[in-house]
Formats: sequence, C-alpha cells, structure tokens
Amino acid sequence: MNRFKIRTEVRFNKNALDTLYEFKGMSAVIITDKFMVSSGMINKILNKMEGYKNIAVYDKITPDPTTTLIADGLKFIMENKGEIVIALGGGSAIDAAKAIVLMGERSGMGDLKLIAIPTTSGTGSEVTKFAVVTDPDEERKFPLVDEDLIPDMAILDPELVATAPPSVTADTGMDVITHAFEALVSIHNNDASDALAEKALLLSFKYLPFAFKHGDDTKAREKMHSASCLAGMAFNEVGLGINHGIAHALGAKFHIPHGRANALLLPHVIRFNAHLRDCFGNEPTQAAKRYADIARKIGLPHDNVRIAVESLIEEIMHMMRRMDLPATLWEAGVTKEQFVAEKADVIKSAMADICTPSNPREVDEAGIERILSHIAPDI
Ligand SMILES: NC(=O)c1ccc[n+]([C@@H]2O[C@H](COP(=O)([O-])OP(=O)(O)OC[C@H]3O[C@@H](n4cnc5c(N)ncnc54)[C@H](O)[C@@H]3O)[C@@H](O)[C@H]2O)c1
Ligand SMILES: [Fe+2]
Repeated sequence: MNRFKIRTEVRFNKNALDTLYEFKGMSAVIITDKFMVSSGMINKILNKMEGYKNIAVYDKITPDPTTTLIADGLKFIMENKGEIVIALGGGSAIDAAKAIVLMGERSGMGDLKLIAIPTTSGTGSEVTKFAVVTDPDEERKFPLVDEDLIPDMAILDPELVATAPPSVTADTGMDVITHAFEALVSIHNNDASDALAEKALLLSFKYLPFAFKHGDDTKAREKMHSASCLAGMAFNEVGLGINHGIAHALGAKFHIPHGRANALLLPHVIRFNAHLRDCFGNEPTQAAKRYADIARKIGLPHDNVRIAVESLIEEIMHMMRRMDLPATLWEAGVTKEQFVAEKADVIKSAMADICTPSNPREVDEAGIERILSHIAPDI
C-alpha cells in the first residue's frame, strides 16, 4: 500500500502574507533570527499583524539550531503564551520553531498554531515532519521526526527571498535539487512523490541559475520557492538518502552550510546510486533509469542510460562551478588535518543517520568512505 498525506495548508505568491490578517485578536510569537529584524524584513510581517492581542519576537535563532537554543526558545514561548507561533526565516528558524512548538505542546501548552514563512528556497521545512537539531556537545546533527512537527500553515512569498545573497541562493537551491533527487530514487518512492520531485527538479534546473544571477528576478524566485516546497512534500513522505546522511555528519563536524554540503556530495552520490558499472550487459538500476529520465527531460544528451546519467552529473558540476560552489572539502574550508581526525566519526554518523536507510543502493562504511574520497582528494 502507498500513502500520501499533505497536512500543511500552503498559501503562496501574490498577497499570500495577507493571510496574517485572519488571526487578528490573537497573541503571537514570532521566531526568527537577528538578520530578519536588523534588515527590517520582519516589518513585512508586522505590517499585516495590526490588531493582534500581543506580539512577542524571539530573534535568537542561529544557523544549525542547537538543543540549547531550543530549550531557550521554549522558555520564551511559555513566558509569552502565544496562541500562534510564526516561524520566519530559513530552515534554521523554521526547524527551531517546529521543535520549540512541539516541546511546548508536549509540556502542556495545548495546541499551538504554527505558521511557517520561509525566506530561503531550500529546506522545504515549511511542509515537513523533520526538524534538524544540532547537539553541540557531541557535534552531531540529528533530524527529529514527528508528524506533530508539520506546520499547520505555510506562507510562500517569493519577495521575502529576494534579499538572499547569491551564496545562500546557491546553497539552498542545491538543497532543493538534492531533496528532489533523493525522493525520486528513494526506496519508498511512489507516483505522488515522483510527480512532486520531478516538477521540483524541472523548475530548479531552469530557474536556479537565474535566481543566483539575478536575485531580484521575481519569476525565478517564485519558481524556486515553489520547487523548494514541492521537493519538501516529496521527501516528507518517502524519505531522503545517503546524500543527506553524509551531509548531516559533515555539517555538524565542519559547519559547512547544509545545502553546500549536499551539493559537494551530489555528483558522487548520483554516480554511486546509479551504479553504472552494472550497465555492461546488465539492466541499468532503477535509480540510474530515474536519473536518466530527468536528464532527458531537462534536455541533456540521453542516447542511453549511461550517457544520460553522465551528462546529468556533468550538468550538476557545471551548475555548481557557475555558482562558485566548492567541489572539495578543502575548497569548502575544511583542512586535511581536520578531516583525517574526524573521518571515522563522519562515516559512523552517516551510517546511523535516519536518512540513510531509504537510499536506493545499500551502503556500508567502505561505500561512504569511497564517496568521501571524491570530495577529499590527495590524502
Ligand atoms: N526540516 C527539514 O526538512 C530540513 C531539510 C533540509 C535542511 N534542514 C536544515 O535547515 C537548516 C538550513 O536552512 P537554510 O538552508 O534555509 O539556511 P539557514 O536558515 O541556516 O539560513 C542561512 C543564512 O541565510 C540567512 N538568510 C535567510 N533568509 C535570508 C534572506 N531572505 N535574505 C538574506 N539572508 C537570509 C540567514 O540569516 C542565515 O544566516 C539546516 O540546519 C538544515 O540541516 C531541514
Ligand atoms: Fe536538505
């Protein structure tokens, strides 16, 4: 049996922020980061919140939220007793708000309405049951998974993403592409997730380069915002794979932005999953055929599965170069010494990551080491 559920009500594009007028008279807590306040971006939200009983702003979110930050945010919402919680920001703010709300509800605060307003087109967190939290003591990132983490409502206003600098656009856009590919080849994939993942990929390959180059291109921002949400819906139901499993481990150890860690790995994970060596005389793997199908749909050479997969990998690497993304851990700022010291731990965490089991090709420690060797050359 397959199942597919979308719980979040998504309001998107023009005037979507007007949704906030509907909660007049209620008390709200906004969970966000310092940049949203200092840049004045928060005013776009506050302008729609006239007539609220009370508005409290918690602006302490930092990238890759930690368990300590979640505990602090929980204290804040308990003191301020918001009936609705508005998460404004990238995946970090939304994930933190999701974890804080869940803990609030489980500590007796009753049902809180969670509205997610993403300002990056990346994580899809506004529609997912995942919240990625970092344990600072163990330098470990772990996804919390709970249906109750799914936001009640998501408001997608592409204007809020317009200020994202090119590097954030590139990182988060590659996160979208990685979500969509991992959902597409997940062992749990189904027709519904395929439709969402495929659309997310077609939009991303077409519009991410524009959004990167012309941050004020409204159409490109709008399409990437949709792609991010669609990819989130897809992987929410069918899971991810080793790309995210390894990226979580690298992110926690070396503080590489999440999307950038995914991008670094993506070409090598696609090659690993496609398992092209099997093409000689053997039927290509399901994953290879799915990658090849996307290559065909985005207009890359696709004479046979091998050529299609190779051209897809080449296209991704080309896109990454054009967006100034690193191709190795060294280019991403990790030193060889750091990597050597942490390698065994990275492999262990990646194997234990909750995303790893839905990968289409079974992986062991040696497999992860091989994938890592491509982004950690010459050691
Ligand atoms: N919950 C999920 O399903 C899920 C999926 C993938 C990743 N994640 C997690 O989400 C986090 C990453 O989220 P992210 O990639 O959105 O980045 P982020 O939220 O960490 O933001 C990155 C930086 O961009 C800035 N920023 C955000 N929006 C901006 C804007 N419009 N203009 C200018 N600057 C802006 C932020 O202030 C921050 O400094 C990681 O912790 C990752 O593990 C969660
Ligand atoms: Fe991700």
